[in-house]
Amino acid sequence: MSKMDLALNVNGLTYEIKVEGTATLADVIRNEIGLTGIKLMCNEGDCGACTVLMDGRPVLSCMMLAIDAEGTEIMTIEGLADADTGELHPIQASFVERSGMQCGVCTPGMILTAKALLDENPEPDEDDVRAALSGNLCRCGNYQRITECVLFTVQEMKAGE
Ligand code: FES
Ligand code: FES
Repeated sequence: MSKMDLALNVNGLTYEIKVEGTATLADVIRNEIGLTGIKLMCNEGDCGACTVLMDGRPVLSCMMLAIDAEGTEIMTIEGLADADTGELHPIQASFVERSGMQCGVCTPGMILTAKALLDENPEPDEDDVRAALSGNLCRCGNYQRITECVLFTVQEMKAGE
């Protein structure tokens, strides 16, 4: 199959690569660009593990063609910490400090989905958090701690204002 030219903006950098027209965004970012923070659990749109932010909104990268992402700004978990200092985003720090992850496979998708929520609604309540994360499955069943991590982040961010 002949390949197509693709310019993909990921975490603020533009990658010019050749891809098959049928390649998913998840596979291209993981295998061609080498950012393996995207996890593939179901690979069919059911679990949210492959979530990335596209222009600030969560999308399932296993369900999207890479060529359809051209012209957008993609963020993966690797782009979330401060690029200059390496300081973790408050949601990441909260997951580390408060045991928000067990095996960690769902974690990048959970954190990016939570980031999109907090960008849109900086003061969500527990129902808002659970609703926002409802498309992200955790096979370890760590939902309570994940929810607590996001709510703790909300408190931390409020206290830091
Ligand atoms: S791996 Fe994409 S939704 Fe499960
Ligand atoms: S921590 Fe293992 S899938 Fe969520």
